[in-house]
Amino acid sequence: MIAVASDHGGFLLKEEIKAFLDEAGYEYKDFGAYSKASTDYALWGYAAVSAVARGECEKALLFCGTGVGMSLAANKVKGIRCVVCSDCYSAKMSRAHNNANALALGGRVVGVDLAKLIVQTWLETGFEGGRHQRRVDQIASIEEEKTP
Ligand code: RB5
Repeated sequence: MIAVASDHGGFLLKEEIKAFLDEAGYEYKDFGAYSKASTDYALWGYAAVSAVARGECEKALLFCGTGVGMSLAANKVKGIRCVVCSDCYSAKMSRAHNNANALALGGRVVGVDLAKLIVQTWLETGFEGGRHQRRVDQIASIEEEKTP
């Protein structure tokens, strides 16, 4: 199950990606926002990544104007590794090397077709583990306020 969320800046892209997820056969839960009305990204992003942190959803797709605000808010939640991506290479490596569990996209930055490719790449790429697990564990140490 994939958690999705947006503010007004990412709302239209979220709707396009939901249609893509439907076509591709992915299950998702939309944590809002539910219209283009001006709203605050942290509220919706927090709801979505909290579901990931609780284990109710596997990954989150977050949408705001740039992806930046959503990612900043998401990364405050323990266990969340959120990346902003505007290219497929970063999307692929964020899964393979960083085991990212949230992806933020900018509805005012990337076009719909590129966003679909980024999402597809990110969802289809697995974590490589090995030496990368050690590095991800070091990130978790920082969360615990320990020196990595
Ligand atoms: C809203 O105007 C915009 O600031 C928001 O969508 C996002 O881009 C923030 O990072």
